[in-house]
Amino acid sequence: MSQRVSPSTRADPACKEGAASGAAPVRALACVVLAAGKGTRMRSALPKVLHPLAGRPMLAHVLANAGALAPERVVLVAAPELEGAAEGLEDAGVAFESVVQAKPLGTAHAVAETRPLLEGFEGDVLVLYADTPLVRGETMARLVQARRETGGAAAAVLGFRPEDPAAYGRLLLGPDGTLERIVEHAEADEATRKVTLCNAGMMAVDGRRLFPLLDAIGNDNAKGEYYLTDLPALVAAQGGVTAVTEAPADEVMGINDRAELARAERIVQERLRHAAMTGGATLTDPATVWLSMDTRIGRDVTIGPNVAIGPGVTIEDGVEIRPFSHLEGVRVRKRAVIGPHARLRPGSDVGEGARVGNFVEIKSATVERGAKINHLSYVGDAGVGAGANIGAGTITCNYDGYAKSRTEIGEGAFIGSNTALVAPVSVGPGAVVGAGSVITEDVEADAIAVARGEQRARKGAAARRRARRKPAPADD
Ligand code: UD1
Ligand code: CA
Repeated sequence: MSQRVSPSTRADPACKEGAASGAAPVRALACVVLAAGKGTRMRSALPKVLHPLAGRPMLAHVLANAGALAPERVVLVAAPELEGAAEGLEDAGVAFESVVQAKPLGTAHAVAETRPLLEGFEGDVLVLYADTPLVRGETMARLVQARRETGGAAAAVLGFRPEDPAAYGRLLLGPDGTLERIVEHAEADEATRKVTLCNAGMMAVDGRRLFPLLDAIGNDNAKGEYYLTDLPALVAAQGGVTAVTEAPADEVMGINDRAELARAERIVQERLRHAAMTGGATLTDPATVWLSMDTRIGRDVTIGPNVAIGPGVTIEDGVEIRPFSHLEGVRVRKRAVIGPHARLRPGSDVGEGARVGNFVEIKSATVERGAKINHLSYVGDAGVGAGANIGAGTITCNYDGYAKSRTEIGEGAFIGSNTALVAPVSVGPGAVVGAGSVITEDVEADAIAVARGEQRARKGAAARRRARRKPAPADD
């Protein structure tokens, strides 16, 4: 698999993307992203690195963060199962090349698979793990700097001190503070397991020395794998130096199972909420608002409690999203009011100052400026003209069991409550539809259409009925 993905455009200056990455570019750098592990602890049919965080595969997070360094090359080491998955990685916005590691024989073996692309590269090679998606570009840049600034260092490793060192590799430092070796958890004795400084999994290596060092790594260990983490001991044996720099634990946590996935999701959400608030949005109860990596939120937006925002949502300035609303694939234009309890589904566009109220679902619907759909409606595959008023309980019957059809409602039209609009059908501008109608034919502009059983009333009939019947005995 070999894939190039063009950078995505961030064309809308009115809205800020939630994710923040502001690392300065680092010159002469190649990033290698390892994504070919088995990921067995996820117990999933989906490859681990494609599990999403804030609606974006964790692998795409790593690619995007690497891209923030503007490296010369980005090389993905993929498992055969990842072939074809690259389309889903486009929104990482990074051009990358791929190699396949046919069998997951270990992290050193995985890096060695990049030889056809990177042999002869003389800059820094920064190895990143696709299951460590929260690392910021700044931290990656700091690691590369650490290697360059530690005189003659062949490599630099990123360390951290997790609350629970669990199964992480341990970093053993020499008296001068440089790294003597990394001991994998599986290989560590009791005393080594007490070391609190752990391996985050990122390594910057002098590109000129990388492949000769990898060639010297064997697989004589508990797992029978080629460990990249054997590299610092080899460097030391050759009289060289490996630098160490530390990162905050919540940035470098590895995701190996679903519990760690959930912790990482929480961290990503906290970052996105923070970015939204910094950008000028009010989140009444931030911990209950769920955002996506590509959510764009303008200024003076208010988002109430318990709102879930899926992929592809743009919220313009001054919009109010009331509690318990669910949005995906929708643009909500200036000062529109959504919810409470509204569901906005993909392909929708809500116009300036429009209202989509409680228990209203819209799908592939364009709701023009100032239109109101305030209560208990389903509006799908539809256009609703500016200023139109859609009464409570209006349903567009867009599906006949075979095909979807459209409903067009003109500007300023008034649809009475509990109307069924059987698509394809249109209601012209300024027309009025009587409540309870089942509209199957187009309604002309400015017409009044009523399509329901006629009301009949027989004078005195209720009284006559009562007289015919004996009163029922009273309950005791
Ligand atoms: C690895 C480190 C450990 C570190 C931890 C940090 C090694 C040997 N150990 O352990 O020191 O504390 O990460 O999270 O590197 N991969 C491949 N091909 C393979 C094997 C793995 O591409 O043959 C990829 C995986 O997809 C994953 C990454 O490399 O993204 C790390 O592999 P994983 O098996 O998760 O290593 P850990 O046991 O977590
Ligand atoms: Ca891991």
